[in-house]
This record gives sequence, C-alpha cells and structure tokens, in this order.
Amino acid sequence: MNDSNCDDDSYYQFDEAGALLSTSLPLPLPRQCGKVRDVYDMGDQLLIVSTDRISAFDYILPSGIPAKGKLLTAMSEFWFDKLKVRHHLRSTEIPAELSSEFDTSPLVGRSMVVEKAKVVPFECVVRGYLEGSGLKEYQSTGQICGNKLPDGLVQCDKLPEPIFTPATKAVEGHDENVSIGRMIADLGSELALQLREMSLQIYRTALQYAQTQGILIADTKFEFGIVDDQVILVDEVLTPDSSRFWAADSYQPGQAQPSFDKQFVREWLSQCGWDKQSDPPKLPADVIDQTAAKYAEAYEQITGKAFAG
Ligand SMILES: Nc1ncnc2c1ncn2[C@@H]1O[C@H](COP(=O)(O)OP(=O)(O)O)[C@@H](O)[C@H]1O
Ligand SMILES: [Mg+2]
Repeated sequence: MNDSNCDDDSYYQFDEAGALLSTSLPLPLPRQCGKVRDVYDMGDQLLIVSTDRISAFDYILPSGIPAKGKLLTAMSEFWFDKLKVRHHLRSTEIPAELSSEFDTSPLVGRSMVVEKAKVVPFECVVRGYLEGSGLKEYQSTGQICGNKLPDGLVQCDKLPEPIFTPATKAVEGHDENVSIGRMIADLGSELALQLREMSLQIYRTALQYAQTQGILIADTKFEFGIVDDQVILVDEVLTPDSSRFWAADSYQPGQAQPSFDKQFVREWLSQCGWDKQSDPPKLPADVIDQTAAKYAEAYEQITGKAFAG
C-alpha cells in the first residue's frame, strides 16, 4: 500500500470525465490507499471504497475509468455471494452513521464494509492457461513457481490442470513469483497448503460457472486474511482487475487473446511515446470510453445482468 496520493483536502476528487480518483473522508483514523481502493478503519471493520483509478505497467494513471469502482464492487459482491467460502464482505450499504455526517452519495455502489483481517502477505494466483508472467517463466524454465509443465505448450494454451503460482505482495513495483516451498517457509505448511487448496477450489468453481456464461478465466489472484484463526477471502474477487477473462468463442491458443480490461489502455500507453519510467500521461477520451465498455461487458457477460453504472 502507498499513501502518496492521500493528501487531498476535500472528500471526493473527480477527474474531468467524472471518474472518482480519490477520497478523503472525515473518518477518525487515517486511511490507507491501495492502487485502486481507499481503505478506512472503522474499529473492527473496514470501509473499503473502490475508486475509479486504473493502473497499468505498475503506475496509477492520472485518468480514471468512470464507474469502474462500482463495477468492481458489484462483481466482487456477485462472486462472494456465489462462492461458498468464508469471506470478509459484511455489507455494501453505506453505514448510517456516515450518511448522517457527510455527503456519502459518491460512495453508493462502491463501498464495502468488511471484517478486518490480518492479510496474508502473498498473492494467491491460480492459472488454468498459459499467459503473462507464467508464460515468460515457462518459456525460460519449463515450469511456473515450481510446477513442472509439459514441453511444447504455446501462448494461452490450456494447462493440463490448474496450478497454484503464488507471488509476494510487493510494496512497490512488480510482484515476485515464488514457489509453494517459499510460502511454506514463511507461513508454515498447514496454512500454505490450506491456501493452495482453497485457491484451486475457488478457481475450479468459478471456471465452471464462467464457462456457462461463455467466459474463460485464464488466471486469477486471490487475497486471504486471518480472522479468529480462520482463513477468509478478502479484497476483491474474480474481477477484470484481478483476473484474465477471455471470450470462449474466440479463444485460440498460439497467440494473445483479446482481454476484457486494460487492453486498450496498455496498447495506447505503449504507442503514445511514454517511457514507462516517468509520470504516465492522461488517457484520451476514446480509450477511456472503450475501456469502460469492456469492463461493463465483462460484468454483464459473467453475471448475466445489465450493469447499472
Ligand atoms: N478484510 C480486509 N482486512 C484488511 N485488509 C484488507 C481487507 N481486504 C482488503 N484489504 C487490503 O486493502 C487494500 C485494498 O486496496 P487495493 O487497491 O486493492 O490494493 P492493492 O494495490 O494492494 O491491490 C489491499 O492492501 C488489501 O490487502
Ligand atoms: Mg487489491
């Protein structure tokens, strides 16, 4: 977590397209900022506000994607409800004690009151298909995070079975892929193996459901936390920000697949002349609109419901 963009002085900061870039709510304890979420301490619960921030190439961009935070919240809520696993979400209603204190209308649809957990400092990644950092590791070593894979797999190939490929949660920069051995050394074997089992189990359940909606979940990242010695699912779950979703009907291994999220943003940033080392530029309106439409499409296809926005 970083709090470099946490020093604004009004409650809500929007950009010119109406995207909510950050919040500074008058809550007693200082907030923390993630790349996308602003987190407020409310005693034994947290208020997590999903903003419309978007990150790419490890930078938070100066333009947001309007309503993206609402979409991520609605999608996480959909999955928390569907997955039969203990999770942190208590309510997506805004706490009455806040509404009587200040204008909470920008929070509607984008807040989650959650159980406060001790977050496990590993990203629990599951991959069912070969892409991204998994593909790179496979191409240079023939394995991913210690999972040996058959020879001759091509980009986006389906793996013989889903694999658990954890990563450390980097405070800055890239997350680092690690082996289950490293997780066991840090967390003990009981917890590490439980996290692997839960991650694979949730992925399989989600994959099966998503396939009925015409979506392949190529890979996804879960975060877990501990409450009263029990493991619970925290943060966001199975959103376009935490997962690679592909359309099943156009899936073709051997090449990159069109993605449901930041494709337009990454493509535009790669050809606009930005060096990927300095402050990133603002996005043009058409890239913002296309990206918003892609996120909405992912929501609608997976949940089967229209996205209210
Ligand atoms: N139930 C919870 N208890 C404590 N911390 C949580 C909980 N759920 C999520 N978090 C943390 O809140 C932050 C959410 O912000 P986010 O923008 O998703 O961060 P990141 O940049 O790490 O993805 C993350 O650091 C996440 O680990
Ligand atoms: Mg997160």
